[in-house]
Amino acid sequence: MQITVYGATGTFGRRLTAHLREGGHSVIAAHRGIGVDTYNGEGVTEAAEGSDVLVDCVNRMTNNRHKALDFFSRSSRSIALAAAENPGAAMVCLSIAFRPEVAQSKLLGYYQAKELQERVYRRLVPADQLLMFRSTQWFELVDSMTFTAGPVAFVPKMRVQALAADEAARMMSEAIDAGERGTIEVAGPEISDFPTIAGQIAARESNRDSAVRDTERPERGPKIVPVPIPGPMSAEGLIPESPRLSAVTVDDWLHTR
Ligand SMILES: NC(=O)c1ccc[n+]([C@@H]2O[C@H](COP(=O)([O-])OP(=O)(O)OC[C@H]3O[C@@H](n4cnc5c(N)ncnc54)[C@H](OP(=O)(O)O)[C@@H]3O)[C@@H](O)[C@H]2O)c1
Repeated sequence: MQITVYGATGTFGRRLTAHLREGGHSVIAAHRGIGVDTYNGEGVTEAAEGSDVLVDCVNRMTNNRHKALDFFSRSSRSIALAAAENPGAAMVCLSIAFRPEVAQSKLLGYYQAKELQERVYRRLVPADQLLMFRSTQWFELVDSMTFTAGPVAFVPKMRVQALAADEAARMMSEAIDAGERGTIEVAGPEISDFPTIAGQIAARESNRDSAVRDTERPERGPKIVPVPIPGPMSAEGLIPESPRLSAVTVDDWLHTR
């Protein structure tokens, strides 16, 4: 198949592109560097020409509610309109697995924007052409959610069932191969929280460094300080009810990094 991946240079998009190419598909890797801008619509329809599947994995990482809503509403709309000009093409939207109370809590505007993104696709793309692929948080996200000050790392105490980004990409690639439609949720093998995962990452990294320096005197990593957060993200808000599971644990992932 020919598959257009919008956001093909991102954390997820480049992994998905690699899996799809390994599976023998021809991928149009769309991003601003080749003149495809989903926010202002430039080149979006052209990038979709002749494709059997369009995948939206673009992103703008912000907690500013207005910026997030503006980006995801405009980007989703321009990609959904490109899908409408390609009758018969499947549309795959990469979203996040979260329960309704997370977007309702209004704590993070980003989640409201992802809810809006899902609504745009459900309104503009016929159900029999749409796959809503909802992933839990990736292990890779922990680093970007950590604020380090000297020897101390502050990590939000979000309760998660995280998985490796590469696993989420592999599972999406398989769903595309199988022609799946509807909603799929994917998650990792363990329920944990970000500070625990940050501690596992720090321990692995300090062991690796100390093995290079001196195997007898392991160096200690940063002190992890969990930052309590109010609302559903510290409870069940980000834990899907019956997801497809990746078997790759944090330790497995750390061994391959
Ligand atoms: N992080 C997580 O744990 C997680 C979990 C579940 C779902 N998700 C979802 O996964 C999606 C992808 O996240 P990511 O972390 O892979 O994103 P990322 O690494 O920030 O990459 C963003 C991608 O979007 C492209 N992009 C940004 N603005 C664009 C524009 N105006 N026009 C065209 N392309 C644009 C970027 O390409 P250029 O900059 O080269 O244009 C890049 O390829 C997001 O929707 C996110 O909500 C994330």
